[in-house]
Amino acid sequence: MLNFEFKNPTKILFGKGEIAKISTEVPKDAKVLMIYGGGSIKKNGVYNQVKEALKDHDLHEFGGIPANPEYEVLIDALKFIKENNITYLLAVGGGSVIDGVKFLSAAANYEGEPWEILTKPVRTFEGEGMPFGTILTLPATGSEMNSGYVISRRKTNEKLSSGGPGLFPQFSVLDPEVIRSIPKNQIANGIADAYTHVLEQYMTAPSSADLQERIAESILISLQNAAPKVMSEEFDYDAAGNFMWCCTMALNGLIQKGVITDWAVHAMGHELTAYYGIDHARTLAVITPSHYRYNFETKKGKLAQYAERVWGITEGNVEEKAEKAILKMEEFFQSLNIKTKLSDYTQNFNGTAERIEKAFTERNWSGLGENKNLSPKDAFKIVEMSY
Ligand code: NZQ
Ligand code: ZN
Repeated sequence: MLNFEFKNPTKILFGKGEIAKISTEVPKDAKVLMIYGGGSIKKNGVYNQVKEALKDHDLHEFGGIPANPEYEVLIDALKFIKENNITYLLAVGGGSVIDGVKFLSAAANYEGEPWEILTKPVRTFEGEGMPFGTILTLPATGSEMNSGYVISRRKTNEKLSSGGPGLFPQFSVLDPEVIRSIPKNQIANGIADAYTHVLEQYMTAPSSADLQERIAESILISLQNAAPKVMSEEFDYDAAGNFMWCCTMALNGLIQKGVITDWAVHAMGHELTAYYGIDHARTLAVITPSHYRYNFETKKGKLAQYAERVWGITEGNVEEKAEKAILKMEEFFQSLNIKTKLSDYTQNFNGTAERIEKAFTERNWSGLGENKNLSPKDAFKIVEMSY
């Protein structure tokens, strides 16, 4: 097991009715800005619950953060924060709203041009951000309990990530009731995103970190168990709760401790969203099978372990089990009505691999993957296999 440090300061308030408790979590003397997306919170009652809970606070609001949070919109929010001397941010939404708030938290306490936080050679915000809490409305990203975020800039077709130890939410409310109003395609996205988060931290080489590996496998199995229940028309509170907690646990830092991690699938997937606007989770379902086939030799041991422990496949040698594992994973994505080829999403896919190779070369991203040895040329080949 590798050496590690682990600190996650986010307080979780899990369960039905917990939104009301933000009245005591948000400091009484704060000037609060509630930030939300395109308006789903006004239809499902979450907006009213927040207004009621904070009725004795100095509460302001800024809506309209789009999916794949847009830099230009966030710059408008930043102006609002500065002009109104806001001291506390409250994200009410999915990963896009929470990520947008993390960027604002950093940008509010940053002296230079805000875009630099995402483009500087070390893409980390070193300081302490403006304090913020979150009310999660869409389980998927884990952003509610980590300190990373991803921002898009449509003008330049860029989608870049950053983060920093001073950007954890102070608290996050996880009320499974919010899942009632989520469209099924977004629930599918949430399952596939969280599933891939586990894979990015697990599907490397077999390690000696037995507990982390078994927690990762348990999250995968729990997501598989919850999937048909949360995809069905009938609302199942316990399945919703399991799904929600799996998504948080998949990317709150725990399972990556003491092990090597990959994240090349996300790096390539973010480009597909930047070029074609494909939902984040769907880009992962497109890239992951090709990535595992291309890197079969280095990943086959763990793929076979996943086949055995997660899917109960006991027949065959390591290679045969590993091949079956990739097929089972593809079938799982497809069971969520998520397609696994780039050509399922765009007819303009020719040239995508070249474009990604060029973008990675320009950014000097030459050491992707768990062994930090995948070059932009390797990314080209993986993306081309996913057409
Ligand atoms: O904008 P509103 O009206 O709220 O509608 C949203 C949006 O259209 C809707 N929605 C959310 N909660 C709902 C709901 N609709 C009905 N009922 C509810 N309860 O769902 C749509 C998608 O929301 P979004 O926040 O964009 O989805 P998601 O949570 O999947 O976030 C995706 C973003 O997170 C980034 C992605 O790249 C993408 O930009 N990621 C962030 C990560 C992190 N911070 O750790 C890691 C991930 O790998 C990912 O990259
Ligand atoms: Zn993701």
